[in-house]
Amino acid sequence: METTLQVVDPDPQVVEPSTQADEPSKPLPGVVALSTCPGTTPGTPLSKNQLKKQRKLAAYVELRKLRREKERERNKQKRRDAKEQGLPIRTGPSRKELKRKQAVTGADGNPALKVAIDLDYDELMQERDIAKCVKQCLRIYTINRRSSHPGELHFAGIRENGNIHKWFMKNDGWENWNVKYHFDKTHKDLFDREHMVYLTCESEQVLDKLQPGCTYIIGGLVDHNHFKGLCHQRATEAGLKTARLPLSEHVDMKTRSVLSTYHVFELLTKVAAGQDWTTAILDTIPVRKGAKAKDRTEDSEPKQPDEAEPQDIESQPPPSGLDS
Ligand SMILES: C[S@@+](CC[C@H](N)C(=O)[O-])C[C@H]1O[C@@H](n2cnc3c(N)ncnc32)[C@H](O)[C@@H]1O
Repeated sequence: METTLQVVDPDPQVVEPSTQADEPSKPLPGVVALSTCPGTTPGTPLSKNQLKKQRKLAAYVELRKLRREKERERNKQKRRDAKEQGLPIRTGPSRKELKRKQAVTGADGNPALKVAIDLDYDELMQERDIAKCVKQCLRIYTINRRSSHPGELHFAGIRENGNIHKWFMKNDGWENWNVKYHFDKTHKDLFDREHMVYLTCESEQVLDKLQPGCTYIIGGLVDHNHFKGLCHQRATEAGLKTARLPLSEHVDMKTRSVLSTYHVFELLTKVAAGQDWTTAILDTIPVRKGAKAKDRTEDSEPKQPDEAEPQDIESQPPPSGLDS
């Protein structure tokens, strides 16, 4: 008798009950279940931990859907209320308005701020951190959208079908965000090196003033400082100009001066919109960093001789290996 091989799920709990009359619920005579077929190994059952994680994830996805639905409903209600009261319906600018605002340029024809998030760190982040990184990109987009002076925003170095791309795809409508996405092209392929500055906290140069026409690159890396100095190393190896934020020039902080990607973006946006560095820093960085405005009174401590005056980014010599 001829034997037919049929895959039968070894876990009866996850077998969907058959709804079709012609679908057999038991293996047919002469049909051998995969789990008992000689020469095959049954699939490894999931461990308790893996099952727990799966259940948690499913519950989270369900919760997120519900939250999103509730939020949509709330927004609809708000719009209805506003309409009834004859108030303007929209809270933030529309995409069209945003584009128009972004097109508002300085005297030299450049946008108020041009930033690229360098997302070329796909392979260095675990899934959890990839998710955080994409969440930060979403915040960056929102900050830009809500700013009175939205900048030109690029998400560069995304690997086509890579982990970051896949996490972007989990966000409804991500393709419609007013952002320039660049797949398999990094900032090095996109912008003129002479007018590009990679922001890194290890740089010896200080970003004193935002230069119109300059593209500021922020590393899209969530690494809990496991790769200390990596962005700086990559930027200098590529022969790019670098600069650090003027944090220590304006505030005293209890902790390290490494900020997250979206805090750096938020800070730049506020300064581009006209805030002074001190106010923007104090408004942006988390309270746990314990930042306090520097005492700028006449009798404040004199500078130590070894505290060299920071060099302005514009006076930075071209990186070695490049034509001056
Ligand atoms: C979380 S940090 C990445 C830390 C990473 N270990 C590294 O090598 O830079 C994310 C990005 O924010 C920017 N950044 C953070 N703090 C900064 C600072 N004090 N000055 C300039 N850029 C900063 C850098 O572009 C950095 O790549």
